[in-house]
Amino acid sequence: MKILVFTEKPFAKAATKAIANAINASGNDLELVEGGTREDFVKAIVDADGLIVRSDKVDDGLLESAPKLKVIVRAGAGYDNIDLEAASKRGICVMNTPGQNSNAVAELVFGMVIMMCRNQYNGKSGSELKGKSLGIYAFGQVGRNVARIAKGFGMKIEALDKFVKDEVMEAEGVKPLHEVKELFSQNNFVSLHIPATAETKGTIGYELAMLMPENGVLINTARKEVIDEEGLFKALQERSDLRYVSDIKPDMADKFEKEFASRVFFTPKKMGAQTAEANFNAGVAAAEQAIAYLKEGWNKYQVNKL
Ligand code: 3PG
Repeated sequence: MKILVFTEKPFAKAATKAIANAINASGNDLELVEGGTREDFVKAIVDADGLIVRSDKVDDGLLESAPKLKVIVRAGAGYDNIDLEAASKRGICVMNTPGQNSNAVAELVFGMVIMMCRNQYNGKSGSELKGKSLGIYAFGQVGRNVARIAKGFGMKIEALDKFVKDEVMEAEGVKPLHEVKELFSQNNFVSLHIPATAETKGTIGYELAMLMPENGVLINTARKEVIDEEGLFKALQERSDLRYVSDIKPDMADKFEKEFASRVFFTPKKMGAQTAEANFNAGVAAAEQAIAYLKEGWNKYQVNKL
């Protein structure tokens, strides 16, 4: 059977090699398309039995061209790029690879935070993380890694996640919160790890940003869609102490950068999970999951209903 690996953002070389080895050893055939166009995607998916993607958009129109497709594995955590309903109605199983790239994302949180606290390394006196408080919004795999690293910096940590029991956070030395307003008003830094869903889209904006203590830093390595960009822009206009760092360029990036040059930072391309280690872990896990599904219907990380 054919497993198509289609990634706009290529995996590290060692990862693609390991993916190829796993697929070849299983007796399946690999087609690897890196940095391809939508047209390339449509062409390659026609005879694919399995598909591995990253943030690449998989919609109803694309699946229309994939009559043989049985499984899609998102090599990573967030699957908001995949139309689950469109997959379900065609009997296609969709899985993600939870936890495989979360350390990489968590490390980037601190990479961006330190850069901002040291004034983007311009030589001016900055500030330290030790003794400061960090609010983690969603205590999943990335949030937990962020908490682990924050402890090493000597930070106080609070988290909000309605799906995680207080005891789980307490066991990690994290104070559980139950109100989003508290998360923003009580913490010098707030790090977002919520998925982009109908419930979360556009929910982080003016009101929450305005609650942050003086010199607050909002960190977004989740999804740009969770931000109300106009609202956040207004908050940064009214509060010259607030800062925003994000691994996902906002739609209004130019406007933000022009107006608040020293107080915002955006990576040019989403790169939280773009490390050799994360590529390897998520890529190989995705390959193994696709192989196991095609062989014996293994579906431990299935995220859609069939
Ligand atoms: C994820 O959801 O796993 C991360 O956002 C990484 O996405 P990427 O594969 O596009 O780097």
